[in-house]
Amino acid sequence: MLTFPSQFRWGTATAAYQIEGAVREDGRGESIWDRFTHTPGKITNGDTGDVTCDHYHHWGRDVELQKELGLNAYRLSIAWPRIVPEGKGRINSLGIDFYSRLVDALLAAGIEPAVTLYHWDLPQALQEKGGWVNRDTAGYFTDFAFTVFNALSDRVPKWFTFNEPWVSAHMGYGFGEHAPGVADPRSALAAAHVINLAHAHVINLFRDDFDRTGEIGITLNLVPMTPETDEDADAAEVADGFMNRWFLDPALRGTYPKDMVDLFTAEGIMPEIPEGDMDLIGGASVDFIGVNYYMRYSIRRGGGPLGYQMVVTPGEKLTEMGWEVYPRGLYEFLIRLHEEYNKPVLYVTENGIACRDAHTENGVVQDDDRIEFIRDHLVQIWRAVDAGADVRGYYLWSLLDNFEWAHGFRMRFGIVKTDYGTLERIIKKSGHWYGQVARSGEVDEA
Ligand code: FCB
Repeated sequence: MLTFPSQFRWGTATAAYQIEGAVREDGRGESIWDRFTHTPGKITNGDTGDVTCDHYHHWGRDVELQKELGLNAYRLSIAWPRIVPEGKGRINSLGIDFYSRLVDALLAAGIEPAVTLYHWDLPQALQEKGGWVNRDTAGYFTDFAFTVFNALSDRVPKWFTFNEPWVSAHMGYGFGEHAPGVADPRSALAAAHVINLAHAHVINLFRDDFDRTGEIGITLNLVPMTPETDEDADAAEVADGFMNRWFLDPALRGTYPKDMVDLFTAEGIMPEIPEGDMDLIGGASVDFIGVNYYMRYSIRRGGGPLGYQMVVTPGEKLTEMGWEVYPRGLYEFLIRLHEEYNKPVLYVTENGIACRDAHTENGVVQDDDRIEFIRDHLVQIWRAVDAGADVRGYYLWSLLDNFEWAHGFRMRFGIVKTDYGTLERIIKKSGHWYGQVARSGEVDEA
């Protein structure tokens, strides 16, 4: 048995658009994901988040479920268009009331809320003005954060500015596979910079006015890039710069990695960085980094716009998403952050697996693959803690099967099954298992 520190947080993670539904209720405005999902051809089966888990009406049950399982933490996100329907200006108090009730219920159940301010649902009205490519969006985001801190920072002890800025910038503005569906590498890097600016503004706002009891950080999607052969090492370094260091370095060192600045400049896609921006970014220090970890990529030199391709290692185990299962990489990445980035406080803010849940016995989904995946990753986290990395919690993705972005409802990540017909929640075998881990703070290595 491996025993985790007694203060370790055991939770799950969700995101507003993926679970809430009720997209036109109580004054919520339109988000880029509402627009994108209603654009034909963008999402598998034409699925949308219009209803999804209908968490907006079933939130009480969803808090109870976590309590039943014995979890002590929960990572949720706030839908910006529920609070500020047009993205700027008018505030919708009904939106605030919803999250306020939810936070109270979590606290009453002994579950610590960790709140992400941006998990991809930009108000559509701001996209009409350029979205994250427009520098004004950083200011509007700061105003939105002010409203949310004002309403909830007396009760919410942990905050995250952004979830996976790489995905917002590159999937949303670079490859066009996510909302708002723009496919232009220059826009993607411009968006990434405005997001980094917005992050810094909100950190400073929090430090100036709200950090009496709480802490704040950012969540990044981090992916080990393994060179396929020794000759692919330089290409893997570029892949790592593109996905990992481009966001880690500003958050933890206040700079962009020089090799990548040179490369993007040579490619003609580097955004102009006005004077003062890097001082602002460099002056905003986080209390922790959230690590979202799902997979690794193998990197082969040649091809692709930056001179490399991501390949799947033959013979390795893949999830339904086609992602390679590589638990060791989580240990390696946590240790790397500890050693190369000056021992930050770390939370694993997402980790989980989409797998086929077909087999049901006595009414319980027998998702043994999920149990194995989670256990193998927890073992690696334990090893990292044992080796000195300051990892303080684990938020499994996800509490419920939910709307998986471009893949719609085909991908099921939950430890609780969502019956999308009846909206019934049914705890899977992995849910019972994870609850046991959370209650005991122990993981069986076998
Ligand atoms: C992450 C997202 C999260 C979820 C998982 C599977 O990239 O942050 O919302 O979709 O992937």
